[in-house]
Amino acid sequence: MSPNTKIILAGGSGFLGRTLARWLHDHGKEPIILSRRPGAVIHGRGIHWDGETLGPWAAELENAAAVINLAGRSVNCRYHAANRSLILNSRLRSTRILGEAIRQAAAPPPVWLNASTATIYRHTLGAPHDEAGAIGATPAARDAFSVEVATAWEAALEAEAVPHTRKIALRTAMVMGPEPGGVNEVLLRLARLGLGGSMAGGRQYVSWLHATDFCRAIDWLIGRPDAKGIYNLCAPEPVTNAEMMRLFRQAAGCPLGLPATRWMLEIGAVLLRTETELIVKSRRVIPRRLLDEGFTFHYPTLPEAISHLKTEP
Ligand SMILES: NC(=O)c1ccc[n+]([C@@H]2O[C@H](COP(=O)([O-])OP(=O)(O)OC[C@H]3O[C@@H](n4cnc5c(N)ncnc54)[C@H](OP(=O)(O)O)[C@@H]3O)[C@@H](O)[C@H]2O)c1
Repeated sequence: MSPNTKIILAGGSGFLGRTLARWLHDHGKEPIILSRRPGAVIHGRGIHWDGETLGPWAAELENAAAVINLAGRSVNCRYHAANRSLILNSRLRSTRILGEAIRQAAAPPPVWLNASTATIYRHTLGAPHDEAGAIGATPAARDAFSVEVATAWEAALEAEAVPHTRKIALRTAMVMGPEPGGVNEVLLRLARLGLGGSMAGGRQYVSWLHATDFCRAIDWLIGRPDAKGIYNLCAPEPVTNAEMMRLFRQAAGCPLGLPATRWMLEIGAVLLRTETELIVKSRRVIPRRLLDEGFTFHYPTLPEAISHLKTEP
């Protein structure tokens, strides 16, 4: 393979990394996965790193076409002090060490895409947020910690001086894809069990993105020499939670689903070791920059995305 097909995926062993590595490989690229457990990497070539210090892994960045940072302790857990520290520090340290590795490379990658999240925007039932939308937390959405993490994460990227490398922050919404562990898998299972009713009232918005469009958008951003700064990675049509659950019930062939009230979710979240913010926060985000700059979605609406995912092997 020629050197410029090499794409570095830091933290590329997780849900998004596996999704992307498989897509890149199928499209003639060479994904290289920086992982703390490279032996467990399924898609792509695994290389050891610890996500916080320089090591032999840094040499992999030489002549790479892009570096994409997806590393970070999963947010699907209880936000007690130890997890908060892991969630924040794993994101800040991996971002900083990649900046250092890029700076010391003789032939650094021309573009660095760093994960961020669409959760950074303010909880809203009103007008959707584009990239200029308001950032901040809302007590009812219990999102203070997530917004703090997202803001610090983007600031860490911003602070890294890498003069020969474009930087892009990916404000990604909930990605739905066929890799194991996707939220679509969980929602379909709930619907099949008759538990696919609306959640916490169902009026809150859900921004989402089909995995194929996630990969295509990343590839598109890599290929555009003028693309830099913040991009929302989400489908153009967010839906309410009630509508999303209706579509999953339809896909499951189960028209009735028990709705979950806020207090039921609070209890469930404790039992499942997760947080209700992932469900109750209203994320109404649109991909203004992608649309304005000419990106087209293969799956712009949720019915199209769900029907495709249902038929995926
Ligand atoms: N999935 C989504 O829909 C979505 C939406 C918006 C934003 N995001 C963000 O995008 C990134 C990737 O998402 P994902 O769903 O692929 O997450 P994931 O499945 O949890 O994978 C994240 C990867 O980060 C690495 N990691 C975990 N703890 C770490 C630590 N303490 N230090 C260094 N690396 C660590 C792990 O790799 P190793 O164990 O191999 O080292 C893991 O495979 C995350 O930062 C997530 O917050 C995801």
